[in-house]
Amino acid sequence: MGVQPASFSTTNREIDAAAARIRDGHLVAFPTETVYGLGADATNGEAVARIYETKQRPHFNPLIVHVSDRNAADRLVRFNDAASRLAGAFWPGPLTLILPAKENNGISSLVTAGLDTLAIRVPEHPVARALLETAGRPVAAPSANRSGRVSPTSAAHVADEFQDTGIMVLDGGSSRSGLESTIVDLAGKHPAILRPGTITREEVEHVIGQPAQPAPIPSPSAPTAPGQLASHYAPTATIRLNACRANPGEALIGFGPDAPAAGDMVVNLSPTGDLREAAANLFDTLRTLDQQAPGTIAVMPIPDTGIGVAINDRLKRAAAPRA
Ligand code: TXA
Ligand code: MG
Repeated sequence: MGVQPASFSTTNREIDAAAARIRDGHLVAFPTETVYGLGADATNGEAVARIYETKQRPHFNPLIVHVSDRNAADRLVRFNDAASRLAGAFWPGPLTLILPAKENNGISSLVTAGLDTLAIRVPEHPVARALLETAGRPVAAPSANRSGRVSPTSAAHVADEFQDTGIMVLDGGSSRSGLESTIVDLAGKHPAILRPGTITREEVEHVIGQPAQPAPIPSPSAPTAPGQLASHYAPTATIRLNACRANPGEALIGFGPDAPAAGDMVVNLSPTGDLREAAANLFDTLRTLDQQAPGTIAVMPIPDTGIGVAINDRLKRAAAPRA
């Protein structure tokens, strides 16, 4: 296994049809560079309610709004200096900003779950951009998986999650980044990373020229704030972290040149020890191994630096006791 090139063949006609479905209040699953999203017109409360229903997502967990460019974002939220710098450096791309929502911005209150802040991002994937431009609406989209399950990084993963629902799925190949976007909260007193991603805390701090509070380490005893559910990204198998080797019957996920080579129920996320490649492979690996139905997936240690912080965040959530 390796990172697949973004090969896909979404036609203009499919984009037009998908954009029309969004405008008509239906859901459309679409690719982004992070994970696939389950999108709806963010200004249409009924459409947004369908996202929560389809995902079986708790209503208190707010959604990210996707827009085509910075101008569209300016209509919805109030930027400050740090936000402008981050948007300039990383948009379009895998970065979500939490900013004060503008009043009467038209966004359904179901999107923000009643908060006065809004999560917003400009995705980079060409199919996502085409969809947003053609729909001409802000699109609310969580990851296109049932609540609590592993996020999808291919159209086939999405089809697995929502069989027989009639939801249109745009195919944009394998998600290049493979982990959900880095979320930076700039609505509070101090910048804070709410969710680590492939844009690292160090990169964020470099651009804003000040420290950002690191994301809380997932733990079962942590309070349940939005997006801080300890058990998340969970495959069916139990996850055992910091393994030295697989016990009999266990699947094994390794990393780097010293880990075992790929084999039966053995995956190396990146034989060369490249964290970016490991991030892109993680969710597909969890799904693939899960389908082989081992009782437990043992995971060897992954360096907790740079993008490794985001990988370990997802692994800790996958390993947390299920609610
Ligand atoms: O990469 C991504 O961000 C993907 C793609 C589809 O864009 N989306 C995604 O959405 O991961 P979702 O719904 O799975 O995660 C959104 C996270 C949740 O943890 C939610 O609690 C948090 O964003 N969030 C949304 N609005 C917020 C707000 N106003 N304040 C704090 N957290 C917020
Ligand atoms: Mg999600």
